[in-house]
Amino acid sequence: MSDIPTDSVDQSRRTWVAITAGAGAIGGVAVAVPFISTFAPSERAKAAGSAVEADISALKPGEKLTLEWRGKPVWIVRRTPEQVAGLKKLDPQLADPDSKRNADATTPVYARNTGRSIKPEFLVAVGICPHLGCSPSDKLEAGAQPSLPDDWPGGFLCPCHGSTFDLAGRVYKNKPSPDNLEVPPHMFLSDTRLLIGEDKQA
Ligand code: FES
Repeated sequence: MSDIPTDSVDQSRRTWVAITAGAGAIGGVAVAVPFISTFAPSERAKAAGSAVEADISALKPGEKLTLEWRGKPVWIVRRTPEQVAGLKKLDPQLADPDSKRNADATTPVYARNTGRSIKPEFLVAVGICPHLGCSPSDKLEAGAQPSLPDDWPGGFLCPCHGSTFDLAGRVYKNKPSPDNLEVPPHMFLSDTRLLIGEDKQA
């Protein structure tokens, strides 16, 4: 099961994405906005095999962009300063706040930090639940909403068996998912371009 909006796929270029308005949205309602960008593999990415390049120049704080890498959805979330600041406070509620479980498979060394990221504002994560492979839904907005606690700080909810993840892809305690969401190998080519599937250590 996937939340990938197939109607926004540009099949000819294998480029597509959805931006979902996040915590910064007025009125507290997440809005899906089709967004076409330039995800054609670069020469460098082609040389690296299956790496894909993402233009994140249009991604605003509080928004999420999804692209495909090796047949899997990869999320890029641009967290707001408030969302970044709130991550550390969640540690006591999380099953593996420091990403120590199954770390070699789920969290590159450079992402073994609170935000699980290279730059604090940008989360890059595979959008597949480690429990049984469903794709969690965006619950980026903070606040009470169905199936979530009243003090929900924003994150993701797996609709299959209820695993919840924070905005760093860290799973909450006592949920079915055994691990945090996978952070794929990635690197910044510039302030506005990300390469997914390759990193400096690859
Ligand atoms: S597949 Fe996500 S909680 Fe079961």
